[in-house]
Amino acid sequence: MGEGNTAGYVIVFFVVGVLVMIITLLALSFQRLESDEIGIVYDTIQKHLGSEVKQEGLHIGPVGFVFIKFPSVFKTLGYTDLTCLDKDGVPIVLDVAFQYLARPSDLHRIVMEFRDHENYVNVLTTAGEAAMHEACSKFNTSEFQSARALFTEEVRETLSLRFNDLSSDITDLQVNDITKPPAYERAVRDKEAARENIQVAENERPRQLTQARTTLREAETQAQIAINKAQSDARIAISRAEAEAAAITNEYQTEADTYATIIQSQGLTTEGFLAYMGVRAIGSSKNPVYAGVMAPAKTSYLGEKA
Ligand SMILES: *[C@@H]1O[C@H](CO)[C@@H](O)[C@H](O)[C@H]1NC(C)=O
Repeated sequence: MGEGNTAGYVIVFFVVGVLVMIITLLALSFQRLESDEIGIVYDTIQKHLGSEVKQEGLHIGPVGFVFIKFPSVFKTLGYTDLTCLDKDGVPIVLDVAFQYLARPSDLHRIVMEFRDHENYVNVLTTAGEAAMHEACSKFNTSEFQSARALFTEEVRETLSLRFNDLSSDITDLQVNDITKPPAYERAVRDKEAARENIQVAENERPRQLTQARTTLREAETQAQIAINKAQSDARIAISRAEAEAAAITNEYQTEADTYATIIQSQGLTTEGFLAYMGVRAIGSSKNPVYAGVMAPAKTSYLGEKA
């Protein structure tokens, strides 16, 4: 190996080294942006942020620069289990998603303020949550049931306002689910069931009333029948009693008349008649009569009769 050869190697090494360096520097000066990205040049050595917003493609810049990249298309931000309190203080669980896009014209300001996309999204997420809480607090529990479209509109407006302050636009908003606490749902169901029961009872009322009136009328009719029967029985009893009384009176009258005739025709005195009656009483008696005294003439007998 000669001197010339050694010098040749050094030159070759040098040239190769320079080439590698140039290629490395060139490589460090090129950065690519994808079709769904925009970016701002940041010189990591000079610590300088460019002002121009770059679009998709391969870009050359100062050695060691990077792109601070942001999406150039709408991205989705979603909340699946966000609990907020409504106007009544009842916890409501929301499942909400929406699409947002950082305004490219404001990108420089955004990067100055929030450094990078990740940080920016964190701030947006917090702002979105705050917007949700704000919208929630404007509605009472029954309005969550009855005015869901209004709530969606309120969320959209509140979100748009807050995101506008952060240089982001909102497109679609999906309120996928609004869940109220189980106890509240239960109470609503119970109330509904009670309302139905009341309705059933109210529907039943005319029928029950008719039934009750029918029963009352039947009872009244039965009572009238009983009264009529009692009155009729009473009349019959009275008639019968009167007839019996008349018959008895008649019988005695006939007897009295007969005795009067006897007294007259026989010319009897009172004593004589009583004696006659005594004889007749003994004669018509079925049992033996022990007549040791002048029984028919007894004054007490007269008294008893009178
Ligand atoms: C809810 O708000 C609506 C409208 O403001 C109102 O009409 C309704 O009475 C409220 N309901 C309750 C339970 O407070």
